[in-house]
Amino acid sequence: MNPKVKEALDKSLALIESSVDPNKTYLEIFGKGGIFTVLAGEIKNIEPQNRAAFGRDLNSAKSQIEQALHIKRSSLVVSRSSGFIDITAPGKKQKIGHLHLVSQAIEEIVGIFTKIGFSLQSYPEVDWDWYAFESLNMPKNHPARDDWETFFVKAPASSRYGNQVLTPHTSNGQVREMERVKTFTPRSPKGEVGPIRMLNIARCYRRQIDVSHTPMFHQFEGLYVDKNVSIPELKGTFDFFTTNFFGPKRVTRLRPHHFRFTEPSFEVDVTCGVCLGKGCRICKSGWLELGGAGMVHPNVLKAGGIDPQKYSGFAFGWGIERTIAMKTELPDIRLFYQNDLRFLEQF
Ligand code: PHE
Repeated sequence: MNPKVKEALDKSLALIESSVDPNKTYLEIFGKGGIFTVLAGEIKNIEPQNRAAFGRDLNSAKSQIEQALHIKRSSLVVSRSSGFIDITAPGKKQKIGHLHLVSQAIEEIVGIFTKIGFSLQSYPEVDWDWYAFESLNMPKNHPARDDWETFFVKAPASSRYGNQVLTPHTSNGQVREMERVKTFTPRSPKGEVGPIRMLNIARCYRRQIDVSHTPMFHQFEGLYVDKNVSIPELKGTFDFFTTNFFGPKRVTRLRPHHFRFTEPSFEVDVTCGVCLGKGCRICKSGWLELGGAGMVHPNVLKAGGIDPQKYSGFAFGWGIERTIAMKTELPDIRLFYQNDLRFLEQF
């Protein structure tokens, strides 16, 4: 290689090597007055018989320089100090998250019940014994309370409302809602109230953990109080929910049960999504248990200051995690709270 070309090539490669701005370096080499441009201009001073060889050397040097610049550019994909961004480098895909499946279900449930006039209310997660039990016809030391495996809060008790508890069910919202509606709806002189159409969704806590229980879970509670509310309305409401949430092929049934705060009381079942009621390995009987329900007990209406002679109502309270599990055929609801993305990303 011609020594002049060699010299210019080495100079250029050294410049590229230490470059932080390949665009600027390019100009220093190939721009007007650049190392390579000046060198190429020399060709006219070369004896004619050597010009072809000089030209070949120039071409070879040029392609070496361009190659070095290309490598430099790629190595400086993004350099803050130079502000150089290689727009040809492949981008990093942004991870886009989504709502947790419990939040998705809450949105869906609220959407279904608001269509038929229920409005979402929220009541305390840490509440008085009075609202969680006593006002619901479960006096102190009543054995029925055992079913709620309650966490009590170490805090001063109220002489009127008793101890504080982590709400073991959303039924604590029933009497609170009666009080709210009595306070805020304009009342006629005859003492009319309501109607009440409450949907109360909240976290609940019980001392239990296994495939179908987590110590913290969510419930949605419906309460409807008006004149002449009857069981067919309760059944119609459940059917509306079931067809909207689980699909048109699933139906509900009421099974007699017992709760202190409803009379009569029911357990609500929905047909299994796998066999649609025929009976299979998962459900055995064809039915899956959705949750409790019933006609509001007169003592509960009284506790909320509503005259049970004039008004009646129905209530239901179902677990959200369990309801989702029944839609998606999940075998273990503890999966909801293990925060394993491999599970969560599927929804
Ligand atoms: N609170 C009851 C439970 O947690 C469910 C229920 C709500 C039953 C309203 C009847 C009426 O199991």
